[in-house]
Amino acid sequence: MELLKRRILQDGRCFPGGILKVDSFINHQMDPILMKSIAVEFVRRFAGQDFNKVMTIEASGIAPAIMVGYLLELPVVFAKKKQPKTMENMLSTTVHSFTKDREYSVCISHDFLNPGDRILFIDDFLANGNAAQGCMDLIVQAGAELVGMGFIIEKSFQPGGKRLREKGVKVESLAIIESLDNCKIQIRD
Ligand code: G4P
Ligand code: NA
Ligand code: NA
Repeated sequence: MELLKRRILQDGRCFPGGILKVDSFINHQMDPILMKSIAVEFVRRFAGQDFNKVMTIEASGIAPAIMVGYLLELPVVFAKKKQPKTMENMLSTTVHSFTKDREYSVCISHDFLNPGDRILFIDDFLANGNAAQGCMDLIVQAGAELVGMGFIIEKSFQPGGKRLREKGVKVESLAIIESLDNCKIQIRD
């Protein structure tokens, strides 16, 4: 997606440890016009796939997910990282965060992830894929089915993309970062 790649090269910044900071248009301040274009591209890439619900994980996945849900007029549900006291019929799983080097739990109500649901999962970053893996686990626990996973940015120098594709998941990433070595952003053509 050319528009996104150009924006990453223009406004993205490298941080030590292979971190790409995109705070000015995705992770802190958001650009809704770009986010709409991102959602249009997800819709195009998953056209022909049969899904009835969009799922993501808080916080940064919510913006692209709701744009996709809006365009397709489908419900959007997000997995939560803090367990609300009032959640009914909770499903939960544990995710290991590499960046924070600790385990955290993610949960979702079975009320909003049902057997027979066909899920398109959307998130901002694919790095190690642990968050995505945790969401896949929630989908399995619910008896729902994963149709595909769309990421705004995939870092191909981390193993998440390979892991998911090896499991047979249809993965679509709109910008693939091949390297951030020497603070130079290299994006796949
Ligand atoms: P994983 O989900 O792929 O396993 O990733 P990891 O544990 O390594 O990353 C944890 C968090 O860091 C995730 O967001 C993920 O989206 C984000 N992340 C990973 N690599 C990058 C990067 O290069 N740049 C930026 N900006 N974020 C990155 P999160 O903490 O779950 O939070 P949220 O932002 O969605 O609330
Ligand atoms: Na995220
Ligand atoms: Na993030």
